[in-house]
Amino acid sequence: MLSRNEILGWLRKRNPVRLQELWEKADAVRKANVGDAVHLRGLIEFSNECVRKCSYCGMNASNYRLTRYCLTDDEIVACAKTAFERGYGSVVLQSGYNPEIPMQWLGDIIAQIKKSFGLAVTLSIGERTISELKHLKLMGADRYLLRFETSDLGLYQKIKLQKNLKSHPRIRLLQTLRELGYEIGGGIMIGLPGQTYSMVARDIELFQKLDLDMVGVGPYIPHPGTILGKQFLMAEENIPGQIPNSALFTRKVIALTRLACPQSNIPATTALANISSNGFIIGLRSGANVIMPNLTPEPFRSLYSIYPTTSNHIMNYNHFDILDAIAQLNRKPGTGHGGRVKFPAGR
Ligand code: 5AD
Repeated sequence: MLSRNEILGWLRKRNPVRLQELWEKADAVRKANVGDAVHLRGLIEFSNECVRKCSYCGMNASNYRLTRYCLTDDEIVACAKTAFERGYGSVVLQSGYNPEIPMQWLGDIIAQIKKSFGLAVTLSIGERTISELKHLKLMGADRYLLRFETSDLGLYQKIKLQKNLKSHPRIRLLQTLRELGYEIGGGIMIGLPGQTYSMVARDIELFQKLDLDMVGVGPYIPHPGTILGKQFLMAEENIPGQIPNSALFTRKVIALTRLACPQSNIPATTALANISSNGFIIGLRSGANVIMPNLTPEPFRSLYSIYPTTSNHIMNYNHFDILDAIAQLNRKPGTGHGGRVKFPAGR
């Protein structure tokens, strides 16, 4: 168990020699608990349609300039086939929050992917109703990703442009998802305007308390077409106690997450790789054991514009570059579904 003070101590540390200790500690805990396999999850961004107006996300419903798309069932299954052919153990079906996605349609796609390729299926489609989640589970979905973004209710309401929430809707829903039999994944963005050291320390404590099976953390990347992105880019000075949205700080949070959640599956996220040319490597060397290669075909991938992407880090997206990075670290691609390890027996 990590204490609040220990977490805060590491979050505030700047000395690279001391920080080296943190990376090594996290790497050792990763190796002892989840081994050297790097699980590859094929990411299929099947639709950018969204009814939410989140102030941080470039796909928010108020962005009328963005061309919206939804892949066909054949296109989605073709992406899953690529994942299968490349030897990945699972796919992640991700979209904006669109209550009109027909659950029958999505359920049938899940069933087809499971039947044809035997892959584990993870969903990341926002805050669905319990009956929808039950249906998708029944059709074969195994896991669900729903980042709570920040556990601080005040900051959450601010970035979501929501008011008068009595409790955090996503933290509640994660618990429901577990009860429905899903493996559950949460996570946060790092460096949101107004996010403080103690908020992030509490987020990491919550990862531990919820006993998350998967934890994804990535830097907040301001999108100039969003309300929050404009505020961020125009701000002249730092708010006191504000945490940076840097690769170094993200690396600290990944390492601390590994110490807090030794058995969780933790990705080196695309957002990290997007702000740092060796983002995947530093993630994998500091506690991460998962990469989610993007399988979304162009022109759709460019339309899935959560945040602006920097084209100079092309390597982040290439299957073979990812394999090379894994080999360079003397690690190996995972085999099988790569679900959460559980030992001693039971949770
Ligand atoms: N920068 C970084 N990450 C973002 N996300 C959404 N918008 C941004 C942004 N501007 C993340 C959120 C969401 C996930 C799918 O993408 O954490 O849960």
